[in-house]
Amino acid sequence: MNTPSDPAGPFAALIGCVFVGTSLDGFIARENGDFDWLTAAGDALGETGYDEFFASVDAMVLGRGTFDTVSTFPEWPYAGKRVFVLSRTLLRSHSSLSQPDTSIHATLGDVLEALIVEGRRRVYVDGGRTIQSFLHAGLIREITITRAPVLLGSGIPLFGPLSGDVHLRHVGTRELGAGFTQSSYEVLSDT
Ligand SMILES: NC(=O)c1ccc[n+]([C@@H]2O[C@H](COP(=O)([O-])OP(=O)(O)OC[C@H]3O[C@@H](n4cnc5c(N)ncnc54)[C@H](OP(=O)(O)O)[C@@H]3O)[C@@H](O)[C@H]2O)c1
Repeated sequence: MNTPSDPAGPFAALIGCVFVGTSLDGFIARENGDFDWLTAAGDALGETGYDEFFASVDAMVLGRGTFDTVSTFPEWPYAGKRVFVLSRTLLRSHSSLSQPDTSIHATLGDVLEALIVEGRRRVYVDGGRTIQSFLHAGLIREITITRAPVLLGSGIPLFGPLSGDVHLRHVGTRELGAGFTQSSYEVLSDT
């Protein structure tokens, strides 16, 4: 495993990108997975830039927690995008998934190899633990966080322990509707 002081190694060509919504205290969902506090604002949020961001990536990597959530949606939200799901438990029960252009990988190393083999470069990384795994490997390069004006007190965290500081360049912050703010950062590689 590479660390922030040994960033990316053979996978340095990958550009891991995060586009995520959090509470002001840094949670991506309640303990039970609910994110009603994020979706409640609906159209009042205005233009979030999600569609433009989504169009800019050529693959997604989802953790199993996030895959379980989006699998309950009435429509598969990633149509037309290549999706890699990181999960040991899913791999034990499925050899393939019914969602189009989707594959399952047991380890971070396996998913990184598959991304390289397919020539994927700009990758949308989603799910708290998955983002933390990519950060630890020095593979997150861009982070956009949309913050809801709410404190949850507990929940599923976006970030976790690191083996060293990760320095970021603030690209910009803007105000959305309903009291939400959105900040973008570039992860600096000279940490
Ligand atoms: N607010 C937002 O914008 C936002 C965005 C995304 C997700 N969410 C929510 O966040 C919750 C899910 O987050 P989460 O932190 O539980 O994490 P997650 O990253 O979606 O899923 C965690 C699972 O992914 C697999 N995994 C992650 N890293 C791995 C690694 N290095 N090697 C092997 N497997 C790995 C493991 O699956 P196995 O246990 O199967 O091996 C692990 O249990 C859901 O409720 C989702 O709806 C919110």
